[in-house]
Amino acid sequence: MRLETLISAEEIQSKIQHLAKQIDASIPNRDQPIILLGILKGSVHFLSDISRELWKLGRDCHLEFMQVSSWHGETSSSGVVQIKKDLDSSIEGRDVVIIEDILDTGRTLSHLRELLGTRHPNSLQICALLSKPDARIVNVECEYIGFSIPNKFVVGYGLDFDERYRNLQYIAVFHQDE
Ligand code: IMP
Ligand code: MG
Repeated sequence: MRLETLISAEEIQSKIQHLAKQIDASIPNRDQPIILLGILKGSVHFLSDISRELWKLGRDCHLEFMQVSSWHGETSSSGVVQIKKDLDSSIEGRDVVIIEDILDTGRTLSHLRELLGTRHPNSLQICALLSKPDARIVNVECEYIGFSIPNKFVVGYGLDFDERYRNLQYIAVFHQDE
């Protein structure tokens, strides 16, 4: 097994500052906190860092979570999207930003956008740290993408291989057979 650095911790942090500014500018309503909806488990570090950047910009956020599975410890997507944990509270009338680690086939996020859209948020946007455009099967509108990457399996900064490597501070290509 070999880890090849793809995106450094510094590059991730400077991208997050940029994304937080864009999110702040896109949501004029400051009367209610923004709902940052993290998709467990891969988005935890990203959600945490984005929420603290938004605080620096004077934005209050509520942190909510959903867990969805389309993925079973292997290095290819299964195609089935199952809600393992739903939201605890209503998003009606709220400004919601879905925070996801990676946009791969697009199945997870297109399913979530459709589902959450039926719950009448004031606005619904998607922010994915990574995107693999060459892996896309389902087309999904995504307002913010941190980095477009090649169609290779990556780990770190929340992303796992069989639950490992989530606590790397950077993103690495995972070479299993080396
Ligand atoms: P999608 O529904 O195919 O877009 O899959 C998205 C989910 O697959 C992500 O939330 C990740 O959990 C997982 N995933 C996709 N590509 C990778 C990868 O390169 N490394 C780790 N997890 C990945
Ligand atoms: Mg995931």
